Formats: sequence, structure tokens, C-alpha cells
Amino acid sequence: MTTGKGSQEISRRSFIKRTAIGSSGFLIANDILSPDLSASTPKSANSTMIGVPFEARERVRLGIIGVGGRGTSLLQDLLAVEKVEVKAVCDLVPEKVAKAQKTVTDSGQAEPQGFSKGEFDFKNLTELELDIVYIATPWNWHVPMALSAMKNGKHAAVEVPACTTLQECWDLVETSEATRKHCIILENCCYGSTEMMVLGMVRDGLFGEITHGEAAYLHDLRSILTSTEGEGLWRRFPHMKRDGNLYPTHGLGPVAHYMDINRGDRFDYMVSVSSSEASLSAYVRANFADGDPKRAEKYICGDMNTSIIKTQKGRTILLQHDVVNPRPYSRLNSISGTKGIFADYPPRVFIDGPIDGPKDGPKKEDWENIDAFRDKYEHPLWKTTGELARKMGGHGGMDYIMNYRLMDCLKRGLVPDINVYDAAAWSAPTPLSETSVAQNGAPQKFPDFTRGKWNVHWDSPGFALQT
Ligand SMILES: NC(=O)c1ccc[n+]([C@@H]2O[C@H](COP(=O)([O-])OP(=O)(O)OC[C@H]3O[C@@H](n4cnc5c(N)ncnc54)[C@H](O)[C@@H]3O)[C@@H](O)[C@H]2O)c1
Repeated sequence: MTTGKGSQEISRRSFIKRTAIGSSGFLIANDILSPDLSASTPKSANSTMIGVPFEARERVRLGIIGVGGRGTSLLQDLLAVEKVEVKAVCDLVPEKVAKAQKTVTDSGQAEPQGFSKGEFDFKNLTELELDIVYIATPWNWHVPMALSAMKNGKHAAVEVPACTTLQECWDLVETSEATRKHCIILENCCYGSTEMMVLGMVRDGLFGEITHGEAAYLHDLRSILTSTEGEGLWRRFPHMKRDGNLYPTHGLGPVAHYMDINRGDRFDYMVSVSSSEASLSAYVRANFADGDPKRAEKYICGDMNTSIIKTQKGRTILLQHDVVNPRPYSRLNSISGTKGIFADYPPRVFIDGPIDGPKDGPKKEDWENIDAFRDKYEHPLWKTTGELARKMGGHGGMDYIMNYRLMDCLKRGLVPDINVYDAAAWSAPTPLSETSVAQNGAPQKFPDFTRGKWNVHWDSPGFALQT
């Protein structure tokens, strides 16, 4: 491992250098420079992790905790990335560890160490010589595992949501700052082909001044929630304990990027209300016999939770969560401003006034398919890596792009695209919505996890061109 000393410790003078490719607003990686807030500041417990680069290294030594559905898929992606060595795997279930070890050896790598001796064996994994620990376990384990990784000198990459209480949000932030290790939320949706294109369009000013966004997780999970394996073993239980938005980050991460949240704006407060609960209990009644223990469960999470986030700069975000009603999948994924709107499912665009053609006369109120913008705005990462990503398959390729990009940042010693402040801010709607719902929709303030640094604009280098 090399340390890439000083290569990215960058002064305020060299802050952001936006190098446009065409007019798409994408950056060349070498021109992504960090604000003077970071690596060069004293390493006190509270010094920020904004703009802090990884140490450059030849190879990435990786451990993964949790090789169930998600961990297995992440593992397959990671094994397809050059110079990534999977050194250790951990799961409660020994057979899952053995299967993951075989997946690794089948790919041509040496057998990784296995850990499956109980709930806390992950601690032994975090003590190995590793660069980063991936965490794909049930939600209640994310924070203890990420803290153990960081305290043992490893970067942590945590599945979504990173954490589920405000205390846990702060635990991640404070530990990342104190250990100088990154805690990255694995928000794959930020790497979707559409999301990356739209980010380029926003940055290019196509939608004008951005004022509103819409984000959601609307996904019928009834059969998964009530299954006797995988997520059915844990993911239904929060529905008995909490009423609010249990899974906010898939929709919110991309919209936060469109709005430069923690990079010039921040979530200020939110209000939240839930509908009544009906669908999960109806499903259980319809599908499980009288004696089944599920029939005795009492769900309190409203079917549809609707929140509105207000940002410091006055923008609004509609944020919804519904995992129990029969419906087609959607993350809403919309952004609008003074010149137009993007809306997803299906992806479409409306821009005010004629783009080409006669200047006079009102424009017809027709959506255009986003494909009309693809030539100009398809993200360079998708242009270069999209074919393999689509072949790998995870969520249409976005998973591979995310993993490829994170590994590339680690190898090249770049600033990660997504940091602990994003992990905290995007996960915080769970506890804040719960409190707001309990108080009849009363506004709840977001903590400023950046401690005042949210207003420094820095570009998400994630959206840089590979060079
Ligand atoms: N980003 C995405 O698109 C996406 C998709 C699915 C799941 N997820 C997230 O990934 C995480 C895992 O979900 P999943 O679908 O893989 O669930 P899963 O139940 O299939 O897998 C979780 C695994 O963690 C293991 N585990 C539980 N406690 C452990 C412990 N103390 N030590 C070691 N292993 C432990 C379980 O044995 C299981 O194999 C969740 O946070 C979920 O929200 C994200």
C-alpha cells in the first residue's frame, strides 16, 4: 500500500476547478480539488471529513460482513473489479460464509478468512489487515459494525440506511472524524444511469434554478417482508415498532445530489404524516393460516408515509415511503426549477420554451423522453463501464458502477463521492419522520452533521470522468 502523501491535500486557492466536458458539467478527476477544510486541518476529534482523500494504494484489501442477498451481490461486483482482493467474509450462517469463500476462490483469488462464530465475530474481521469493510447486514447491526471497522483503522462502506436513530447518525460522524476513516453509505441509486445523467443536466443549468425535488421508495415488499428467509427474518419487525419512513435513502440520495446537499445547501427541517396501516396486516391475514405467529403481529407503520423536507436555501423535497401496497415500483426521482422539470418512471423531461426551432409561440406541454438528451449527458462512467455494468446486472448496472467507482477512488487516492455527512443526513429522515408523525406532523429540525461546513460548495467527485 502506498500513501499518496500530500497528493490531494489541497489549499483553498485550488478549491473547485470545474472542467467541463462539452457543456455537460462533468469533471475530470484530476481537477477535482478539495476545499481547505480537510486533510490539512488539525486532526482533532471534530475536524471534518469533507474533502479528505483516501490514501492511494495499488490494491484494495476488502472484508465483507453479511453475505445474504445483498452481500452476495456486492461480492460478485467487487470480484469483477481489478486489483480488489476479498480477504475476509463474515456471516452468522457458516454455510453462507463457505459459499462466499467459494465464490471468491472460483474467481481465482485465494480463499478469504471466514468468520461465523456468533453475532460479534465481525470484530475479529475488523482487526485484520484490510483497507475497507463492506457491511450488508440487518439495519440494527450497521452502526456497531461500522464503528468497529473505523476504530480498527478501516474505512467502512455501509448498506442503506446507514443508521436508524439520530444518536447513531452522530456516532458515525464522530467516529469517522476521530479516526480519520471514511464511512460511506452504499447508495447505489446515486449511480443509476438516469440519475447521473440528470445530475449533469442540473449542473448544466437545464432546469434553471432548482426549487423542488421528489424522492421515494415505493416498492411492494409484502412477500419479502413475510418470507421465512432473507429479509423476512428481520425487515418486518421495524413495522411493529416505528411509524415513519423506514427506508429513505434510495430516493433521497440522488435528489440530495441534484440539490448539492452538504455541498452548498442542507436539509433544514421536515414534516411528516403517515396513512393508516392496512396493507401488511391484510396480506398476512390473507396468506397465513390462523395458527401462524405472524397472525398475532401488530403493525403500526402507516402504509404510506409522506414527508416534506425544507432546505436551508428554501427548496422543498417531497419524500415518500410505501413498501406494503400493491403497486409498480417507483422512487419518484424528480427535480424541477425555473426552466423545466425531470420526472422519472418513465424518465422524461420538460424544458420551457423551444429548445431548437422557432422562438415564438408557446411550447406544447409534452414530455420528451430522456433518451433525447442521452448523447450529450450520458455520464462518462456509464459510457466507459456501462456495458460491463449492465452485464453484471445488479439493479440495471448501478451497483457495479457504484462499486467500481468506490474501488477506483480507493486505488487512486481520491476524495470519495459520498461521505459520512451524507450517510447521516440521508438516514436521519427515519427518526425525524417518526417523531413528526407522533407529533401530528410537527416540524423536526435536522442536526447540522457538517457542523457549519454545509455551505462550502464542493463537487461530488463521484461524477468525475475517469482518466
Ligand atoms: N442498496 C440496495 O439496493 C439494497 C438491496 C437490498 C438490501 N439492502 C440492504 O442490505 C442490507 C442487507 O440486506 P439483505 O437483503 O442482504 O438481507 P439478508 O437477510 O439477505 O442478509 C443479511 C445477512 O446478514 C447476516 N447477519 C445478521 N447479523 C449478523 C451479524 N451479527 N454478524 C454477521 N452476519 C450477520 C445474516 O445472516 C444474513 O446472511 C440491509 O441493510 C438492506 O437494507 C440494500
